[in-house]
Amino acid sequence: MVAAVLVLSGACRDSESASVGDTEATPGSAAPTTTVDGCEPSVPSTCTLRQLADRHGLLIGAALRPDLVGEDPEYGEVLAAEFNSVTPENAYKWPSTEPERGVYTWDDADATAEFAVGHDQAIRGHTLVWPNSFSAQQYEILPAYVGDAPDPETLQQYVDEHIEAVVNRYADVTDRWDVVNEPLSTIGAQVDANLLTDTLGEEWMVRAFQQTRALDPDAALYVNEILAERPGEKHDALIALVGRLLEAGAPIDGVGLQGHFLSGAPSFDELTAVMQDWEDLGLEVAVTELDIVAPDGEPATQAQMYADVFSSCLAVAACREITLWGVTDAHTWLNDFLGEESDPLLFDAEYRPKPAYRAVREVLAAEL
Ligand code: XIL
Repeated sequence: MVAAVLVLSGACRDSESASVGDTEATPGSAAPTTTVDGCEPSVPSTCTLRQLADRHGLLIGAALRPDLVGEDPEYGEVLAAEFNSVTPENAYKWPSTEPERGVYTWDDADATAEFAVGHDQAIRGHTLVWPNSFSAQQYEILPAYVGDAPDPETLQQYVDEHIEAVVNRYADVTDRWDVVNEPLSTIGAQVDANLLTDTLGEEWMVRAFQQTRALDPDAALYVNEILAERPGEKHDALIALVGRLLEAGAPIDGVGLQGHFLSGAPSFDELTAVMQDWEDLGLEVAVTELDIVAPDGEPATQAQMYADVFSSCLAVAACREITLWGVTDAHTWLNDFLGEESDPLLFDAEYRPKPAYRAVREVLAAEL
């Protein structure tokens, strides 16, 4: 039902040919190779990131906050012009959709879906279940009533009903889901000891994947993890966990690497090796929440790190997507999380494209 409303509301794809606020020098004499809506990749400044990503069949996304769409026209314009995918930053999460038992609040999620459909963007459904104990200390990631479930059966029922409600409402507009978010401990490499895993064992994850598959058979289903982008213990632990879940019958299609690089990004070799491991296991891989803080604070360092992340993804066929965790440095969760200005995104606080933007554009403009 919602899908029909969304489809009806979303016919136009605006700002498509505008390159955002970029005033760099006009092109030299290089002959254009492909022209897509006025974009000539041999002259990268004529193209948006979205146009260039489309040529690679790559999803380039941004986390979307519907409150900002209403507040600030430039936010929506840049998001629509530069990205072919959106991830609801918070709107699909359990505390947003069912803050009290049986009380559903869909406004933000509907607004997110309407925006995406209206601008011909894919949606990454983030996230169905996020029980991580470290994150729960920072944020409300499960509504209070979930913690008050009187017994394991009721807890499982809450999870089942939550998944059913969200997937049924957005299956038609959502082509991939972060079914399980952060199953490992944030710092460390064990399976996270949290309410769900402590009470229900790993079986709740298997069941979540099976249920989501049954409700939305066409969507790609992901495990999404933080701090697992470099070779090492946590990467190995994630491979082991995904292996166990697959073995137990969980229909997992891919692994999301969040990509919150708070003090520098992995090197091209590190990230490529990790992605290659996932490809070798027959899975998709995506960078799902990218933001980068350069240790030296230099825009040029940040730009190189962004370029390396995009180059890694283009080098591994299984990498289908890079999503940024926001659009502009004016609005980034990291300022709250770190308690200081972090400038981790591609556009500055005035929506001017940063060196990192141009570096990403160069990588995406490369010959196919
Ligand atoms: C963050 C949002 O950006 C914040 O607005 C919110 O207060 C807390 O969650 N890993 C995830 C994301 O999977 O959902 C988190 O998003 C950031 C860390």
